[in-house]
Amino acid sequence: MFTKFTKQVKNMLKKTPLIRWEYIDQNIEVRKKQYRIQFIEQFLPKNGIGAELGVFKGHLSPILLEYTNAKKLHLVDPWYTFKPLWQWASGNKSTVDGLIKVLRSFKKELEDGRIVVHVGDDLQVLPTFPDKYFDWVYIDTSHAYEQTKQELQILASKVKDDGVIAGDDWQPDTSHRHHGVCKAVNEFIVSEKYEIIYSNEHNLQWAIKKG
Ligand SMILES: C[S@@+](CC[C@H](N)C(=O)[O-])C[C@H]1O[C@@H](n2cnc3c(N)ncnc32)[C@H](O)[C@@H]1O
Repeated sequence: MFTKFTKQVKNMLKKTPLIRWEYIDQNIEVRKKQYRIQFIEQFLPKNGIGAELGVFKGHLSPILLEYTNAKKLHLVDPWYTFKPLWQWASGNKSTVDGLIKVLRSFKKELEDGRIVVHVGDDLQVLPTFPDKYFDWVYIDTSHAYEQTKQELQILASKVKDDGVIAGDDWQPDTSHRHHGVCKAVNEFIVSEKYEIIYSNEHNLQWAIKKG
């Protein structure tokens, strides 16, 4: 009797995927991906040189490459050389797998030089580029105030005058634990005469350009 009931419940769960967590998770991911695609298509310059700061398993990298049609894309992440708290919190103790995944999926682009992988802290890697080198840079690293502030300070000289700096985690609510990105960007645009060309607390994307 009980076995029959559990069987029925299992079948019901199979037939009504809306109440299955993985389905909900998947849907959130699909929507997040769609928002990001629209944002990237609309606000990042095409056919230029770009960088993704914070790559992890490279979920966003192919989207950045495709929708900007970048002639060169630099991927910067310390991966296994760095163990911050969020990696521990996410339960993923090794980022070696993330790096291997990125290297595997971009084998062709790495061989032809369209993608360059930099294993390191962006605050060390970014200063090695010439001034006014990037057409765009997408920041998705620690999402912390100090880190974002320092990244923006370096990018002020590394991004072209008509270039775009963009990123994830726009949280205007000052009590939000990830408000640091928004705070650092707002301070930066005042001191460096940039303007916000897009910001959205729902899809969390933001972009700034020299005014
Ligand atoms: C949220 S994940 C990036 C997700 C990725 N952009 C995506 O959309 O799939 C954040 C990444 O930032 C990296 N990171 C943290 N601090 C960094 C730093 N100082 N420089 C570069 N990357 C950093 C972490 O190692 C982690 O892989």
